[in-house]
Amino acid sequence: MTSYLVTGGAGFIGSNFVHYLLAHTDATVTVLDKLTYAGNLASLDGLPADRFRFVHGDICDAAIVDELVGSHDCVVHYAAESHNDNSLTDPSPFVQTNLVGTYTLLEAVRRHDVRYHHISTDEVYGDLELDDPARFSESTPYNPSSPYSSTKAGSDLLVRAWVRSFKVAATISNCSNNYGPYQHVEKFIPRQITNVLDGGRPKLYGAGQNVRDWIHAEDHSAAVLKIIEAGRIGETYLIGADGEQNNKDVVELILELLGQPRDAYDHVNDRAGHDLRYAIDSTKLRQELGWQPAYSDFRTGLANTIDWYRNNENWWRPQKQATEAKYAATGQ
Ligand code: NAD
Ligand code: DAU
Repeated sequence: MTSYLVTGGAGFIGSNFVHYLLAHTDATVTVLDKLTYAGNLASLDGLPADRFRFVHGDICDAAIVDELVGSHDCVVHYAAESHNDNSLTDPSPFVQTNLVGTYTLLEAVRRHDVRYHHISTDEVYGDLELDDPARFSESTPYNPSSPYSSTKAGSDLLVRAWVRSFKVAATISNCSNNYGPYQHVEKFIPRQITNVLDGGRPKLYGAGQNVRDWIHAEDHSAAVLKIIEAGRIGETYLIGADGEQNNKDVVELILELLGQPRDAYDHVNDRAGHDLRYAIDSTKLRQELGWQPAYSDFRTGLANTIDWYRNNENWWRPQKQATEAKYAATGQ
């Protein structure tokens, strides 16, 4: 595999993958990104100019997509509207980008017979009870809760249908919650870190008992590359690092690492339809492809992430005010 087209490569996880790919292979990479509020070209600074190119465009634009897909060996599809809270305020861009955009890419990879890897989320499986010993696996039935997760579930099903009906050479991965540098300040961990750095307080939805299964973005990137290189066509792989934490514990740890009292946070309005718990069983990925996470200590990974936001205010500052204004409108 020598030339990759990465959609959504100016976003949080896509940009991490682009850096990872260029550092760990001799591939060339083209990023196709619309640069929505969530895209940031600064996340792609420092890449080798002879192996990297950026194209500003929309994955729903069939002409651009067709031309780019036809000139690459592999498409890795990260582009999406990714934030649950936004999907509750206005689902429309989620339907367009996550469903129509994926359809547009699938039709192009079908025409050009190009390898395709689809990035998805554990949220397609719905949620688990707090005391349920079960975790999500590749055979868990789909049961999404929000406009975001239902459009991601729909996009996964499109991929499965294009594999079966048209023999498209695709794989799918469903990953749990990512953390690390370059994540938009609308998301839970960067929002709380930058609130405290700004002299404000973290905002916890409801009682904070909801559990997320945290994985460092770099571990996600390593898993995706393994699946592209060695995964079986038509298969789904779940990606997770055994990182279950409830939101209250994460907020308290952020406050402690920032030298603040552990109770210096506010409870705010809960999210409508808020999923209770996600948990991933990644046995298939580990046993079949030999992947394992390198970032096994959440406290250290979180401390490094805090340092990154402390040292990179230029990156996040332009997004902060508009993000908090959106939250203020919903009492969050
Ligand atoms: P993000 O919101 O940070 O980035 C999304 C990127 O897609 C942005 O650069 C944006 O400009 C681009 N984009 C949006 N609409 C586009 C369009 N129509 N055409 C071209 N580009 C467009 O998202 P993220 O957190 O990096 O998530 C990336 C992918 O990973 C998504 O598919 C998401 O569902 C999936 N995922 C995310 C997580 C997580 O914890 N963040 C976990 C599992 C899976
Ligand atoms: O599980 C994978 C998913 O993880 C991805 O598919 C999504 O793209 C990604 O955004 C993330 O979804 P979540 O909704 O779990 O992430 P978010 O960062 O929005 O919230 C994490 C938890 O923290 C969730 O239980 C809601 C809560 N929360 C969030 C915010 C922004 C708070 O308590 N306070 C907050 O201010």
